[in-house]
Amino acid sequence: MFVSDCLEANEQNHLTIGGLDVTELAAEYKTPLYVLDEETIHRNCKLYTDSMAQFYDGNGLVLYASKACCTMTLCKLIASEGMGLDVVSGGELYTAKKAGFPMERVYFHGNNKTRPELELALSCGVGQIVVDNRDELLLINELWGNAGKRADILFRIKPGIDAHTHDFIMTGQIDSKFGVALETGEAMEIIKEAASLPHVQVVGVHCHIGSQIFDLEPFCTAAEVMVNFMADVHDALGLTLTRLNLGGGFGIPYTPQDDPIPYNAYMQAVSRVVKETAASRMLPLPYILMEPGRSIVASAGITLYTVGNIKEIPGIRHYLSVDGGMCDNPRYMLYEAEYDFVIANRCTDPKTATYTIAGKCCESGDLLGENIPLQQAQRGDILAVLATGAYNYSMASNYNRIPKPAMVMVKDGKSRVIVKRETYEDIVRNDCE
Ligand code: LLP
Repeated sequence: MFVSDCLEANEQNHLTIGGLDVTELAAEYKTPLYVLDEETIHRNCKLYTDSMAQFYDGNGLVLYASKACCTMTLCKLIASEGMGLDVVSGGELYTAKKAGFPMERVYFHGNNKTRPELELALSCGVGQIVVDNRDELLLINELWGNAGKRADILFRIKPGIDAHTHDFIMTGQIDSKFGVALETGEAMEIIKEAASLPHVQVVGVHCHIGSQIFDLEPFCTAAEVMVNFMADVHDALGLTLTRLNLGGGFGIPYTPQDDPIPYNAYMQAVSRVVKETAASRMLPLPYILMEPGRSIVASAGITLYTVGNIKEIPGIRHYLSVDGGMCDNPRYMLYEAEYDFVIANRCTDPKTATYTIAGKCCESGDLLGENIPLQQAQRGDILAVLATGAYNYSMASNYNRIPKPAMVMVKDGKSRVIVKRETYEDIVRNDCE
């Protein structure tokens, strides 16, 4: 009935997550509120790790792309699953370190890592750096050299694949700020140069073609292109790269119309391509890395708001305003991202009304969705937005000096705060008088 398995309706016709009545969560923790179901995250992790075991003999590691949602609790949870972590900034790395995440399982990404971020990575003992460009390569060689160490690096490659997704979240094509291009020879050149440097060891290559992708084909093409490139590197430079990081990007259902690929189908198809291509090029099978972010946490999350004013503009539309908005979820503004909405305190009533859901920020474009079918709503109702576990909290801002919501984790019929609600004091904390 709802897009995510952890959501149900109880006898009071209230929405539940992980068995807990969300109206009670809203009353206890106030709104806006992010809620995550721990069981769903564990289940999603297991789907990936099991399919890696089944179709690729476990010869790889699933990394959680922490940009989707990064908190210390989540880092600990991912560590407990035996998975690795993709971090893309000093802040994500610091969070992982504070959470005690095993640094050898961390991959440090980013198209413009700063010197202080790289110094942090060096001092933390980050396992692998995914190098984006030549300047960065030289800086890593210098920093690791000064410390008498050698960095294990992968190169971010633009495989030249057109993934069918929103322009802003498509990254594998040649006109992208990320990585080095294959078809121009840039990638081969930089690997050749890296192989001559004393303080880096090139262990592999990485690609990420985009996000929220529903097709198998671009993933398979990317895998084939990348394995062929590894073979080309072997033939041209005599260098055997052992790791192939295929990135993330697996689509999830935000609305009932969305029809994502089952992970198993993905893993099976991509494993076959990797195995066949490696065999045809006489390349040893690479150790594979995958980097799902959204598909680990999105379906585990919901956001709860309290409905405020409802404004009818006759003949035009009904605006329903909530106590959050673009400050806790900018995805509709940025990508016209679609969500499923439910009045949580009458969750199985038919959706006979249509609203445009407006946030409280001083910005006309501050909307969470337009022309949304919904139960008839009134002030004080609890509105739930579904599948918000990824790229909501992690993309939140303090626009209009609005404090960020709390995040609560539910498990075994109990709830606990994993991120405290910001206070006005937090808002002025770094202001100088
Ligand atoms: N690996 C790399 C190198 C990435 O750049 C990304 C996402 C991922 C893995 C994880 O992708 P996922 O499995 O979550 O699709 N803010 C956008 C999404 C941006 C994704 C950026 N990179 C959104 O809200 O849709």
